[in-house]
Amino acid sequence: MDKRSSRVSGFYRWTAEERRRWVAAWAGLSAAEAATLDCGLALDDADRLTENVIGTFALPLSIAVNFTINGRDYLVPMAVEEPSVVAAVSHAAKLARAGGGFQVGADEPVMIGQVQLLDVPDLDAAEEAIHRAEAEVLALADAAHPTIKKRGGGARGLEVRRLSQTAVGPMLVVHLLVDGRDAMGANAVNTTAEAVAPLLERLTDGRAGLRILSNLADRRLAWARCIIPAQELGSEDYPGTRVVQGIVEASAFAQADPYRAATHNKGILNGVDAVALATGNDWRSIEAGAHAFAAREGHYTALATWEETEQGELAGHLEMPLAVGIVGGTTQAHPTARVALKILGVQSAHELAAVMAAVGLAQNLAALKALATEGIQRGHLALHARQVAVAAGATGAEVERIAAALVAEGQIRETRARELLAHRA
Ligand code: MEV
Repeated sequence: MDKRSSRVSGFYRWTAEERRRWVAAWAGLSAAEAATLDCGLALDDADRLTENVIGTFALPLSIAVNFTINGRDYLVPMAVEEPSVVAAVSHAAKLARAGGGFQVGADEPVMIGQVQLLDVPDLDAAEEAIHRAEAEVLALADAAHPTIKKRGGGARGLEVRRLSQTAVGPMLVVHLLVDGRDAMGANAVNTTAEAVAPLLERLTDGRAGLRILSNLADRRLAWARCIIPAQELGSEDYPGTRVVQGIVEASAFAQADPYRAATHNKGILNGVDAVALATGNDWRSIEAGAHAFAAREGHYTALATWEETEQGELAGHLEMPLAVGIVGGTTQAHPTARVALKILGVQSAHELAAVMAAVGLAQNLAALKALATEGIQRGHLALHARQVAVAAGATGAEVERIAAALVAEGQIRETRARELLAHRA
């Protein structure tokens, strides 16, 4: 049993170098691995990842602390430039710890590959023919991607959907369900969908159109729960019971109103995307899946909800599609992503998805707690002031000095930061 604790107080007060040394020791990083935390992507590596490369674009890589998930402690790497996001999740993880941490889980890593079938002369007969030939279709799918099969994954089944009214007439859509194991699975699913399309054409007498995965990965959901004792949420100005009530009201607002739900979910994705980016995962596919899932019942709603338990505690729940991997793609090709995965210490794509759900729920909790009490601006101000100071040209110790002066004066403007810099001794 892993006994390492992720509970650190005042982590934000350490220097970046101190944090890095501590995390390297925690995760058992070699000197070479620790070195990749500094701009680990060389120009040659970048040139191999994509096209027309002229450089690399760096973002801060941070560590969220205090997470305990299914009884185990994690340090969570997050790549994000937005102030407050990492501080907020670390704070929320500390609150959740008081209630036993996060309980999480995830579905088997099954992706959906879609094959569109057009000009099908007899939809009923075609549907029946596909179902009759299911074993043949799945065998062909497995043959198209033997490595997935070798790793214990492969085609798991198929579904036929009928879109009777489209702008170009009726069509059939075959969903191939493919278990990509520890990969995100896009390549396996796309290869498989392309491989089975000719057989589906023959079976249906139709014409295959698109053959591509669906980002609405609703076979691959991850979820997280936590329960927070009310007294943990309270402060001198805001008693815990009032904070619980405020968060429950904020949740009801997001559940009922798509305008609010979009912002509520954006906060969740602040956390989820930052972990996706740090671990080399495709955050655009996560975003697409999350929003489509949030609208699955015909109206766009909240991915995470909060309620008060009979004992007066705050109980949160989040569920969303999380198609992420720990092998293949950028997760291994990007040296910093490899090290981020080592720091996180997850053993499977399934575990990564579940941890990300906890981070999303933590982010939501922190945002709602701030919004339901003092508002988010106060906490943001100091961090925002630092960014403004840097944008105005401050470096080193000047950054803190100028930021503190901007906050004290109550005007966080770049022109004022420049004036202050011009008057430096
Ligand atoms: C800001 O990036 C995210 C929040 O707007 C989320 C929310 O409103 O729940 C604070």
